Amino acid sequence: MIIIAGSSHVKLAQQLATRLKAEIVIANTKKFEDQELKIQITHDLYNKDIIILQSTSKPANDHLMELLLLTDTAKRAGARNITAIVPYFGYSRQDRPSYAYGPISASLVANLIETSGINRLITIDLHSKQAEGFFKIGVKNLDSSSLFIPLFDNQGKYVVVSPDLGGLTRAKIFAHKLQADLVIIDKSRNFNGECEMTSIIGDAKGKDCIIIDDIVDTGSTICKASRLLKDKGAKSVAACITHGVFSGDCLKKIGLAEFDNFYISDTISNSHLPNFINVIPSVDLIANAINKEVINV
Ligand code: R5P
Repeated sequence: MIIIAGSSHVKLAQQLATRLKAEIVIANTKKFEDQELKIQITHDLYNKDIIILQSTSKPANDHLMELLLLTDTAKRAGARNITAIVPYFGYSRQDRPSYAYGPISASLVANLIETSGINRLITIDLHSKQAEGFFKIGVKNLDSSSLFIPLFDNQGKYVVVSPDLGGLTRAKIFAHKLQADLVIIDKSRNFNGECEMTSIIGDAKGKDCIIIDDIVDTGSTICKASRLLKDKGAKSVAACITHGVFSGDCLKKIGLAEFDNFYISDTISNSHLPNFINVIPSVDLIANAINKEVINV
């Protein structure tokens, strides 16, 4: 088995190669003046099982294009099977038209990935489960809750909080595993796209609250959720978030919000994160999936 490391997350690809005792290949990547990408892999891929690891994180379009070109290269070189590991699947939030006749961008990206020649996709916490249906190839959408559950002992009076209705299923699974109650925040977006939260369903008073979300981007959702929970009398507020997009002044906002604990997985490569962000490695979750999904099939 050969792991090809996309440029978005070479460290995770290296960790995975070590876990799986697989060979790692780093493609030669060059950009022309007009930013067009050129990929070269000189390694022999003929008749080999190939894993390409690439998060389609910022810059999303470059990383997506690189994934497509890496796949095409592997296919043309005669690879037997190509599995894409896309720990963070950019565009997955755009899983429905946001206005009449608007694009379903996640579906288009799924088609592009499939057309490039990938035989199987492994990803973590797609924004919505129904996005799996955009693919005809096999998709393993890994649940990240096993990364975070061990961080909580059974001493706390926990409630698991979904910061919006869209995240309810994810929070419900987490709450079930932790045998905790569920709290749901009523989130809406105003005319300018800013999120507003005024009411919660469930009781947060005196409780250790764990907010579960798939993405932190501007930080608006998680920080406003924390504020509301504290206003409702929460004893402590922790956050467990799978994908750290961290746009703009997000980290500053999180610092000011004074979370009791803030956990993020490493599906996106983020160097120089402040000390109040605890990064939880995802390599074992991915390695176990490959052992089950790819090696044993
Ligand atoms: C929304 O549906 C997602 O699950 C996240 O809550 C959202 O993407 C977070 O974005 P932001 O950090 O910009 O509020």
